[in-house]
Amino acid sequence: MISAATKEKVEALASAFPQRRSGLMPALHLIQQESGYISPEATVFLSQVFELSRAQIHETITFYHMFRTRPAGRFIFQVCTNVSCMLRGSEEIMQTLSEILGIQPGETTPDGQFTLQETECLAACGAAPVVQLNEEYLEHVTCRQIRELIAELRKES
Ligand code: FES
Repeated sequence: MISAATKEKVEALASAFPQRRSGLMPALHLIQQESGYISPEATVFLSQVFELSRAQIHETITFYHMFRTRPAGRFIFQVCTNVSCMLRGSEEIMQTLSEILGIQPGETTPDGQFTLQETECLAACGAAPVVQLNEEYLEHVTCRQIRELIAELRKES
């Protein structure tokens, strides 16, 4: 459900540009920040505000890997698997996460706490391998750090 405050901000974004559609990307970020994903209800709302078809909204959401169409866990691990990270062990990192969490990339744990995703280059290649945990980058990450981190996060949840 989109709050009244977010709806108001989205309307303001659409009005801020000569072409209403130019405000779509920041609007998608706003909605995902609030709801965790872009729901079918949000797609309908956005199509009305930006005067675009639902298919056009859906195309935009699915083109960019940072937008989700399904609810995600409280902790979202995104493992970069591009060249620099791959050469520095990202496959092992992904395998460790997958084993500890008991899920495959693209899945969320049944308790709704953890989501695991593969992602494209996070633009921090010099710090490979890189994992993004929610908004934070984990740089030069090791499998041991991942194990310790998950143990800590499980205590929090
Ligand atoms: S290749 Fe992983 S951050 Fe660029």
